[in-house]
Amino acid sequence: MSFYDLAKSRYSVRKFSDKEIESEKLEKILLAGRIAPTAKNNQPQRVYVLESEDAMEKVNKLTRCVYGAPLVLLVCYDETEVWHNPLREGYNAGEVDASIVCTHMMLEAWEQGISSCWVGMFNDREVSAAYNLPNHIKPVALLPLGYADKNAEPSPRHDEVRDESETVFYL
Ligand SMILES: Cc1cc2nc3c(=O)[nH]c(=O)nc-3n(C[C@H](O)[C@H](O)[C@H](O)COP(=O)(O)O)c2cc1C
Repeated sequence: MSFYDLAKSRYSVRKFSDKEIESEKLEKILLAGRIAPTAKNNQPQRVYVLESEDAMEKVNKLTRCVYGAPLVLLVCYDETEVWHNPLREGYNAGEVDASIVCTHMMLEAWEQGISSCWVGMFNDREVSAAYNLPNHIKPVALLPLGYADKNAEPSPRHDEVRDESETVFYL
């Protein structure tokens, strides 16, 4: 499959089956995250694999967007390791780095036949407290992963793509 076909076919799955993810597939997904580009190659991402009964019970209380997935990746960054742009006051690349890592994993998962849904709808303080994350570890995204339920389908808005003239500008 070409990259375009892979990206075009992916959609946010909001109904998972309870089939477990094979460990080799999970390893490949995690590896795709590890090879993602990060600012200055600092690799400040910290990925927590939520798979135990306890961790899954907690995440299901922290967000309503797990959608029955058997496993969730909690993607964070370590604030002590982020690149600070000296030309932009107060800016660090932590969220961007973690987001690129998360995107790599989301697309690798899709190639492996594993579905996901990027989830931002959570309270970061509640997440940190639930998993005893130190203060310098900042949650960015949750990524429920699993096999799509046979009745899963893209949301009605999935195919809405803005006209190029609205989002691309040639200068
Ligand atoms: C930063 C970000 C946060 C998101 N948060 C949520 C969320 O909390 N819950 C959810 O169901 N989907 C969430 N999504 C998924 C988007 O709604 C979805 O990607 C978008 O509607 C396009 O649909 P598609 O992924 O099927 O192409 C999020 C996506 C991104 C990139």
